[in-house]
Amino acid sequence: MKNVQIYEKLAKKYDLATKVVSFGIEELWRKKFVKIIKKQIKNGTLLDVASATGDMAKSLDFEKMYLLDPSSEMNKIAKEKLKDKNVVFIEDFAESAKIPQKVDLITAFMAVRNFDDLDKGIKNLDKYLKNGGYFAIVELTKSNSLLFKLSMFYMSKIVPIIGGFITGEYESYKKFDKMIKNICDEDILKNLDGYEIIEHIRLFPPIASLIIARKNG
Ligand SMILES: C[S@@+](CC[C@H](N)C(=O)[O-])C[C@H]1O[C@@H](n2cnc3c(N)ncnc32)[C@H](O)[C@@H]1O
Repeated sequence: MKNVQIYEKLAKKYDLATKVVSFGIEELWRKKFVKIIKKQIKNGTLLDVASATGDMAKSLDFEKMYLLDPSSEMNKIAKEKLKDKNVVFIEDFAESAKIPQKVDLITAFMAVRNFDDLDKGIKNLDKYLKNGGYFAIVELTKSNSLLFKLSMFYMSKIVPIIGGFITGEYESYKKFDKMIKNICDEDILKNLDGYEIIEHIRLFPPIASLIIARKNG
């Protein structure tokens, strides 16, 4: 679970650095994600996984929200952003966290690639989703396209320079590249076999996928 130590160091400048290195694309994906989710479910109890600085909870603004992230520095920033909301912070890993109640929606935006054990993480989270509830995921996933290869080059060679300049953490960005796994859509979908897939689209640029799944039962 060492990538968390890196996130701890990046937390204070995470929002700015992410905006710059992604050219604002992550924010466009987030808006699209929220719009698609809201077509299925408008309110209820949310569990946002790998919640970082709390932007997903802020955008969805559900009645009751659990934010799950092992990084205390990220949680500190999220707490400040969400101080007027009904939020419970759970400082733990997706693979081991215990959530006090079952929820209507689980969101994992640029999250699951960070799990040390993807299968264990999704299986544990599934325990806390109500039947008929939604599991919504956006993740960078592999493809054979030239654009994907170029973006991997960008992330391993250029992002550490720009991100390092903004945060003063060049070495941390370089470490990320080695630590974070490249996964494909299938690695996620194989864990969702008790679910109906409502949406499964490739985002633009085609380096990430959006999946919305409804739990059967
Ligand atoms: C790329 S950020 C997530 C972005 C965020 N979901 C958003 O909406 O902006 C990755 C986050 O994953 C967290 N993380 C790392 N390992 C984790 C794990 N095993 N379970 C849950 N969160 C984890 C990190 O602490 C970090 O805050």
